Amino acid sequence: EKGGYEHFMLKEIYEQPSAISDTYRGRMLPDQGIIRMAGVDDNIERISNARRILIVACGTSWHAGLVAEYIFEDLARIPVEVEYASEFRYRNPIISENDVVIAISQSGETADTMAAIKLAKEKGAFVFGVCNVVGSSISRETHAGAYTHAGPEIGVASTKAFTTQITVLTLMALKLAKHKGTISNSDFRFHLQELERIPEKVKEALNSDEHIRGIADIYKNATNCLYLGRGFNFPVALEGALKLKEISYIHAEGYPAAEMKHGPIALIDEQMPVVVIATKKGHYEKVVSNIQEIKSRKGKIIAVVTHGDTEVRELADHVIEVPETMESLTPLLTTIPLQLLSYHIAVMLGKNVDQPRNLAKSVTVE
Ligand code: M6R
Repeated sequence: EKGGYEHFMLKEIYEQPSAISDTYRGRMLPDQGIIRMAGVDDNIERISNARRILIVACGTSWHAGLVAEYIFEDLARIPVEVEYASEFRYRNPIISENDVVIAISQSGETADTMAAIKLAKEKGAFVFGVCNVVGSSISRETHAGAYTHAGPEIGVASTKAFTTQITVLTLMALKLAKHKGTISNSDFRFHLQELERIPEKVKEALNSDEHIRGIADIYKNATNCLYLGRGFNFPVALEGALKLKEISYIHAEGYPAAEMKHGPIALIDEQMPVVVIATKKGHYEKVVSNIQEIKSRKGKIIAVVTHGDTEVRELADHVIEVPETMESLTPLLTTIPLQLLSYHIAVMLGKNVDQPRNLAKSVTVE
């Protein structure tokens, strides 16, 4: 059932090229420049005229929501807010019929997300669901939705659900952008073509597995770890830290790289591994100077860089390459090495990777 892999998590990491293409297959027609998504098509006016989009989710799905915030605002020019589902419902939120709520949930059973949906519906908002499990409670409770089609995710640590959620949300943002005219036809087609190349590039990123295992071996006994990223890759830093925490029980925190100087930089010493997402285009020069700041305090740098990078290579203790793509699609690639890094560390520490202590696959209590 694990298809020859030692753990479900590893199997699911390796399934991402096909999971991502399953997500866009039948929806995206790059040659014709078309995206078809029934749940969006049927409600296109309501969604594209939203005063704002409010995304509610928990955990990894919340991280996918944060990536989506950058993508929706960049492409479709609709204001987006991302909320932890649990916080949203307990603070008397301001929400009306002019708002569109997107609820993201792999399992479709998360109690906090479900409660947020019910509240949003009571206030008259239109609620769109992004779920993986077909027929799940959340998929039934929402007004419309789009499935991720990632296939069953068994490992408690979410992997392919995250990348396919980002894929669906990217399609949705592109579709809205086209409808609203906030993207040119040529840009639209270019995005589709680049998205179509992502599964191949994810495969290339997976080729670094052995190299990443070597890095895991060096840092497996760390007690703390920082993850830094900017822009589209800031949420990826949060996700990388969550992966490490939940399966290896090593304390990790994700930060926007520029926030370092406002506090966390005090933590840096020769004991501290810092994973930095430093792909080209994404505020690259700024990230390079963040890396220099960490180096001068003797922190150990593990950098995720664009294939062929030379500048960061000179500074970092280790580099992990991912293929080049357009900036908004980089999270689909930069996430891969971070999943593998946490996986290998957890295995080396003898942890129960697929069923970490204290955690359940779906959290059905509030
Ligand atoms: O099923 P959901 O996407 O609603 O689950 C949300 C979180 O419980 C989930 O992402 C959790 O954080 C994972 N264990 C992360 O790997």
